[in-house]
Amino acid sequence: MGADGRNREKKENEGKRAGTRSRTMKAGVVLFSALALFLLMGAVFTQRPRPKKPTRRPPTSRKPAPQPAVPAVPEPQEPTDFPPPILGPPSIFPDCPRECSCSPSYPNSLNCENRNIRVIPIIPSRTHYLYLQNNYISEVTAESFVNASDVRWINLANNRIHRIDKEVFKKIPSLLYLYAHHNHLKEVPSGLPASLEQLRLSRNRISKIPAGAFSKMGNLTLLDLYHNQLSDNDLGKNIFKDLSALMQLNLANNVLKKMPAGIPSGLIQLFLDRNRIDDIPRDYFQGFSHLAFVRLNYNQLSDKGVPKNVFNITTLLDLQLAHNQLASVPRFNGHLEHLHLNHNSIESINGTLLCPYSLQALESDNSVVPRLRYLRLDGNHLSPPIPLDVIMCFRHLHSIVI
Ligand SMILES: *[C@@H]1O[C@H](CO)[C@@H](O)[C@H](O)[C@H]1NC(C)=O
Ligand SMILES: *[C@@H]1O[C@H](CO)[C@@H](O)[C@H](O)[C@H]1NC(C)=O
Ligand SMILES: *[C@@H]1O[C@H](CO)[C@@H](O)[C@H](O)[C@H]1NC(C)=O
Ligand SMILES: *[C@@H]1O[C@H](CO)[C@@H](O)[C@H](O)[C@H]1NC(C)=O
Repeated sequence: MGADGRNREKKENEGKRAGTRSRTMKAGVVLFSALALFLLMGAVFTQRPRPKKPTRRPPTSRKPAPQPAVPAVPEPQEPTDFPPPILGPPSIFPDCPRECSCSPSYPNSLNCENRNIRVIPIIPSRTHYLYLQNNYISEVTAESFVNASDVRWINLANNRIHRIDKEVFKKIPSLLYLYAHHNHLKEVPSGLPASLEQLRLSRNRISKIPAGAFSKMGNLTLLDLYHNQLSDNDLGKNIFKDLSALMQLNLANNVLKKMPAGIPSGLIQLFLDRNRIDDIPRDYFQGFSHLAFVRLNYNQLSDKGVPKNVFNITTLLDLQLAHNQLASVPRFNGHLEHLHLNHNSIESINGTLLCPYSLQALESDNSVVPRLRYLRLDGNHLSPPIPLDVIMCFRHLHSIVI
């Protein structure tokens, strides 16, 4: 059941009109707003047709789950024996490789994407931005980079790379972004430069992280290892220890059974969806200073593996625990704005227990209203109506799906 914002706003206006009439009762503001809410609830529920069979679960398709934006990467077609096509007139740059294009307006960019390329050409020394995505490259070797010492960004996504020679990185010590997602890598490349700020290695076949792979990378803010074959043993305790600037870590879609250890404390986003995690240590999130987004959708979490207060984190804004086996709603902080608990085994919710503050405290102090705006509970063993104490507590709730 969705109480969408527009409907809610309309009801609130109606509530306000009703309130004007009853002001002669000299009801205090707090009591008045509680009363208006009560009236509002009455109005909402009496106008909604009750489901005929409350025992049947509501169709889950009513509100589709918001999907993380996954860029559609075109699959390369089979390589042909023809050489890469030469597009357009000869370049004004004599050093422009024939299979690439060099725009006079962007002398620091080398565009070699979508060209049927199998071997990386010699990269001109003026290149800062190197685009090689969507080709058939299977190996990256140092010869192509002998003069490429100024390269800052490389996009190698969607090739067939199974090996990146570590000598490559000695030639490009100022590299900031390395995008090598959607390839055939079996391990994190060795010898990555300490200057890196973004490293995307998702959609490979990585099951090994060499010791020291991320050492000295004090400027790395994004590490994406989504959709690989990493297990707990591959993530040694010290593997992330130098990543003091890391903000986003994506380890979703691997085969982890445990929460990864030694995550840098300044992290903002931690994505661990689609693993096999069944247990979170009690103090796991202690010590994070900015953690705001935690995703653990599609794991094997049950009440047993989720200590009662583990998600009561003041910095957390968005917590996603959909598609697990939770039977009760974990405690969370009043600052949380989005909570996904759909497709678990929750049978009942008690707003009084759930409320991060006591209802009495809410009545007397407007500053402590919980900030929860979006709550997904569909796909559990719950049926409407939404309990009154939930509405009484979460007054900023914009959308709730049961
Ligand atoms: C590297 O750059 C130098 C100077 O620009 C040039 O003479 C040399 O031919 C280049 N090497 C290759 C392999 O292109
Ligand atoms: C990290 O970034 C700072 C500031 O941009 C820069 O001075 C420093 O050299 C960088 N570190 C490395 C190892 O590149
Ligand atoms: C959550 O943590 C805060 C302190 O950060 C504490 O005051 C509050 O009682 C905790 N909530 C629950 C439900 O334990
Ligand atoms: C919710 O929990 C409170 C506190 O334990 C309890 O007093 C109340 O009866 C519960 N409400 C329901 C509907 O079970």
